[in-house]
Amino acid sequence: MKQNRRQFLITTSFATFGLFLNKSWLFASNAKVSFETDFNSMDAFLDKDFLDEYPYSLPKLPYSYDALDPFIDKMTMEIHHTKHHQAYINNLNKALENQSFNKAPLVELFKKVSTLDKSIRNNGGGHYNHTLFWQMLKPNPNNAENLPSEKIIDAIKKHFGSFDTFKKEFSDKALKLFGSGWCWLIKDKQNKLKIVTTPNQDNPLMDVIDEKDRGLPLLGIDVWEHAYYLKYQNRRVEYIDNFWKIINWDFVEKRMNA
Ligand SMILES: [Fe+2]
Repeated sequence: MKQNRRQFLITTSFATFGLFLNKSWLFASNAKVSFETDFNSMDAFLDKDFLDEYPYSLPKLPYSYDALDPFIDKMTMEIHHTKHHQAYINNLNKALENQSFNKAPLVELFKKVSTLDKSIRNNGGGHYNHTLFWQMLKPNPNNAENLPSEKIIDAIKKHFGSFDTFKKEFSDKALKLFGSGWCWLIKDKQNKLKIVTTPNQDNPLMDVIDEKDRGLPLLGIDVWEHAYYLKYQNRRVEYIDNFWKIINWDFVEKRMNA
């Protein structure tokens, strides 16, 4: 093992895991489930800047609650952050309590989330997705044009033809996503950029997502009604239109460069 590689295995026997998952078929095997925690893996490394570890707590927003006005209002931000996000954190901590693997980074749990309690999937996704989302936004009080750098535009052109085509495709997918969920720009294993949607609090790092839709989330929009209903009511299309004004492209670029 390389010296700069901090790695450990968190292993739990199937007996423990069987109780945890309440699935009796797991007892039939002597195999072990393990979480390999590599803090130098791309995903975990990128998260270190903004994501904490168990027991998780509400991250401070990088701006004030009213800073995204007039695109996202103060009350929506405050409720979204202190109530919704906090609830995911509380439930995640509860779900991970007394679990031998609770110190593994969330990205590692996501890779095996299909084998875990659904509460870890829903609330772990809820904490991770929202923590990312706050970073992906930035204030734009003067309603200035908010275009990404040439580098991002070139990468987007390569995969989508033009920035406008990308913007239209992303907005359409976010608009048409049925019910609650997220629309993402991801970088897949082949470094290809793709737009994908995930239901509920799932995300493209989870093993429950179709393999073709998995990858590193670069940009995401929360299209749960709690993200926009107070200001926009049923007008999801307006919320999505205004989302483009407050994207923190520097953050997206940093993840794209990883
Ligand atoms: Fe949300």
